[in-house]
Amino acid sequence: MALLLLFFILLLSALPRDAAALTRRDFPGGFIFGAGTSAYQVEGAAAEDGRKPSIWDTFTHQGSNIRNVLVKAGYSPDKSTGDVAADQYHHYKDDVKLMHEMGLDAYRFSIAWPRLIPDGRGKINPKGLEYYNNLIDELILHGIQPHVTIYHYDFPQSLQDEYNGLLSPRFIDDYTAYANTCFKSFGDRVKHWVTVNEPNIETISGFDDGTLPPRRCSYPFGVNCTGGNSSTEPYIAAHHLLLAHASAVSLYRDTYKVTQKGHIGITLLGLWYEPATNTSQDAAAATRMNDFHIGWFMYPLVYGDYPPVMRSRVGARMPRLTVEQSKKVSGSFDFIGFNHYPDNRARADKSAFNLKQRDYYADAAVTVDPITDIQEGYVEPPCALGKLLEHLKLKYGNPPVMIYENGYGDIPKTPSKIDYDDDYRSEFLQNYLEVLYLSIRNGSDVRGYFVWSFLDVFEVLYGNVRRFGLCGVDMNSERRTRYARNSARWYSGFLKGGELRPVSPSWKAYAAA
Ligand SMILES: *[C@@H]1O[C@H](CO)[C@@H](O)[C@H](O)[C@H]1NC(C)=O
Ligand SMILES: *[C@@H]1O[C@H](CO)[C@@H](O)[C@H](O)[C@H]1NC(C)=O
Ligand SMILES: *[C@@H]1O[C@H](CO)[C@@H](O)[C@H](O)[C@H]1NC(C)=O
Ligand SMILES: *[C@@H]1O[C@H](CO)[C@@H](O)[C@H](O)[C@H]1NC(C)=O
Repeated sequence: MALLLLFFILLLSALPRDAAALTRRDFPGGFIFGAGTSAYQVEGAAAEDGRKPSIWDTFTHQGSNIRNVLVKAGYSPDKSTGDVAADQYHHYKDDVKLMHEMGLDAYRFSIAWPRLIPDGRGKINPKGLEYYNNLIDELILHGIQPHVTIYHYDFPQSLQDEYNGLLSPRFIDDYTAYANTCFKSFGDRVKHWVTVNEPNIETISGFDDGTLPPRRCSYPFGVNCTGGNSSTEPYIAAHHLLLAHASAVSLYRDTYKVTQKGHIGITLLGLWYEPATNTSQDAAAATRMNDFHIGWFMYPLVYGDYPPVMRSRVGARMPRLTVEQSKKVSGSFDFIGFNHYPDNRARADKSAFNLKQRDYYADAAVTVDPITDIQEGYVEPPCALGKLLEHLKLKYGNPPVMIYENGYGDIPKTPSKIDYDDDYRSEFLQNYLEVLYLSIRNGSDVRGYFVWSFLDVFEVLYGNVRRFGLCGVDMNSERRTRYARNSARWYSGFLKGGELRPVSPSWKAYAAA
């Protein structure tokens, strides 16, 4: 019997268990694991304590296009708004406790501009200031780093009305003054700042296809907008966002960095485009798409100008960076955040300019087949994350990267159902962790990984119908009761040192080698 036991012990220790399993100790020292949300998507208290509307309040109250996305996919329309959402404004203490129990190193959230400075410019709202001070203090008290996005979609409606928001260069000064308030008020405790979230998609959805606020577009690139010009405005809005970002970074570096010793960057949507077929035309289309999507911001941030392919295709409609601006923009980051979701396929299409359907990046002359499947249980092989990181390494000098969003959204048949069982989400996330590890091992300079989302949020395209949370929120209960899904336990186990058995094919191949 003892001999048999010894035999089993020997057998077990001979198995390549340690080599095959992934633990957080395999990541570089100081690597940050977290989870995130954004203000409009979780705070609620939309009209409370002096907060004024953002363009998102206006949008959701008009009965937004969120419905169209859902109806097209065969779901019934969702009329939810961010009025209450997860009501984090009233439950932040419970949430920080949950984060602490889960073992998060960091929480990524955003400050609502119209809560802190309700008119967009001028007077600070003392209640807004108090709320963010309390949230930050509570996080620090529990040993959780705050990673703060200064502007995440919720542009003050008053400035939209006054000068058309991002379309005016006046945005740059107002944004910089707002960022200054954030640095001055919270920078003693916040060491990771993000100026702007996803300027490379906010400008497309807001000014090209017009599906999201401020809903500007022109035919044939979008329909039913009240105004706009899809051929020019996306580029103008992006230009102002880029300059606003650079302006805030200069301010931070000149005035705050020495004493506050923090890091500042920008977060881009990091979709990755693969060719739809193996023809050379489609390969070129995918390259072009990646240059339009990622290069739009990465190229000026690294090289001080827009990508050559955008300059040549967009021509005179592409804004110019002056020598002075170029100097200010290039190198204006300590890290780049990427929000990463499953990839897309690009197809060369000369007629893309004339397509009467939704067709963003018409100037790239490609059509895009999003392969993101919204069926429950669908898991996309995560190779695109590795390709994106490899691209950043080879083309943009391997910048320090934070993966600030990566997550899986399901659409339950009964949206209000309390659902603990989300093992597909854990598997999805683990796939990405494995690919991330392999990329880091291969030289990519990734510093952190944040699950989207910490808890169920008001989703920008799908309202309350699509759920991304590690923690669920009972949207029918008055207190918005939180509950930990299986994926929260899975993540917690990993964060507390547990071993993950391999799931992704690339990791299995690596572990076997
Ligand atoms: C545009 O508006 C018309 C008229 O209200 C409506 O029938 C159509 O469905 C709308 N299209 C989209 C894509 O919203
Ligand atoms: C958009 O602006 C360009 C350049 O000013 C102009 O040529 C074009 O006609 C405008 N398109 C629309 C739909 O207004
Ligand atoms: C594309 O893939 C098909 C099927 O795998 C193959 O037969 C063909 O030779 C490939 N073409 C090119 C240009 O690589
Ligand atoms: C690892 O990096 C090298 C050099 O940049 C590259 O050629 C290779 O494709 C990378 N491998 C993976 C799996 O990304």
